[in-house]
Amino acid sequence: MEYNIALQFEDGVTGFIKCDDGETVAEAAYRQKFNIPVDCLDGACGTCRCHCESGSYDMDADLYIEDALSEDEAEEGFVLTCQMMPTSDCVIKVPSSSEACKVGKATFKGKLAAVTTLSESTIHFGIDVENPDALVFLPGQYVNVTIPNTDETRSYSFSSIPSAHQAEFVVRNIPNGKMSSFLSQNATIGQDIEFEGPFGSFYLRPVVRPTLFLAGGTGIAPFLSMLKSLEVSGAHHPINMVYGVTHDFDLVETQKLDEVKQNHPWFNYHSCVASEDSSHDKKGYVTHHIKDDWLNNGEVDIYLCGPLAMVDAVQNWLESNNIQPSNFYYEKFTPSEQ
Ligand SMILES: Cc1cc2nc3c(=O)[nH]c(=O)nc-3n(C[C@H](O)[C@H](O)[C@H](O)COP(=O)(O)OP(=O)(O)OC[C@H]3O[C@@H](n4cnc5c(N)ncnc54)[C@H](O)[C@@H]3O)c2cc1C
Ligand code: FES
Repeated sequence: MEYNIALQFEDGVTGFIKCDDGETVAEAAYRQKFNIPVDCLDGACGTCRCHCESGSYDMDADLYIEDALSEDEAEEGFVLTCQMMPTSDCVIKVPSSSEACKVGKATFKGKLAAVTTLSESTIHFGIDVENPDALVFLPGQYVNVTIPNTDETRSYSFSSIPSAHQAEFVVRNIPNGKMSSFLSQNATIGQDIEFEGPFGSFYLRPVVRPTLFLAGGTGIAPFLSMLKSLEVSGAHHPINMVYGVTHDFDLVETQKLDEVKQNHPWFNYHSCVASEDSSHDKKGYVTHHIKDDWLNNGEVDIYLCGPLAMVDAVQNWLESNNIQPSNFYYEKFTPSEQ
């Protein structure tokens, strides 16, 4: 048995290694030329201490000393990678930069395979990657796409899953925006395009309690990736979503959301539109449309993604209503020059 281990470095870079049954994470990392911090390799120094964000593993407390890792730390999910043997796919936070660990940022070259206008404000594009097997990411993560014929990049969250035949993205068409103008006016199917990544700590963790997704505008993209991945894995707790946009025409990909809702009893969602001239039956912001029971008295994991102002507004709303979810993850679609 072989497990996928995502190593998340302090600078936002994520590296992926394969770990065999009975192999420690440190052994697997070095085998695959990732110089993660280690020293004694014997459970004595604590140099290799990391935090396991998700996944299961064996780590025999008799094989390391309290100075390297205390009982409390082990209970909180800290691990010694020189002792940790994964028994499932895992995500591990490494307290070091990718550069220090000599992990090169992965660049993926490909061909622009699709550019579709989803609405007057939103564009979808897809890339056929040259080496699709090497493209591994966690649903919710993003990449930096180079705007063709420039040296500028823009960040985009995958709306597809790693096993999909194309890497897909959903993009807001900003008037005079550089990437927006490229996609809406100059893009040619088949032309070269590349991206670097994956990056980010906004990704789907194992669903262990009711979960609430809050999406604003093209912030729907990472949730599409998460939902597609959940369609494969299934979910044992309810996943509810509010998808808010400014104008009626900003609502996109609802057919996909309806399909997931129809096919999977664990998923429910509704959308809302902020603009006063909207013909939508639910008007206002996402916070106006969160059902009380979707918050499950705070025993809920909340994922939030959208434009800067929307994410800040939802965070303020949660604070002022004294809602302290079990876990809260967010991604802000910050404009590139900020
Ligand atoms: C981690 C991360 C993930 C992202 N994922 C996505 C995604 O999946 N889909 C997506 O559509 N966007 C996403 N973004 C935003 C994206 O990277 C670009 O900023 C956006 O697409 C604008 O690029 P552009 O080249 O068209 O415009 P630019 O040339 O960068 O900007 C043109 C003008 O528009 C303004 N502007 C730029 N972005 C915004 C905005 N969001 N709201 C208001 N004004 C703006 C700029 O300040 C500038 O004045 C993400 C951003 C981050 C940081
Ligand atoms: S390398 Fe010393 S405890 Fe792991």
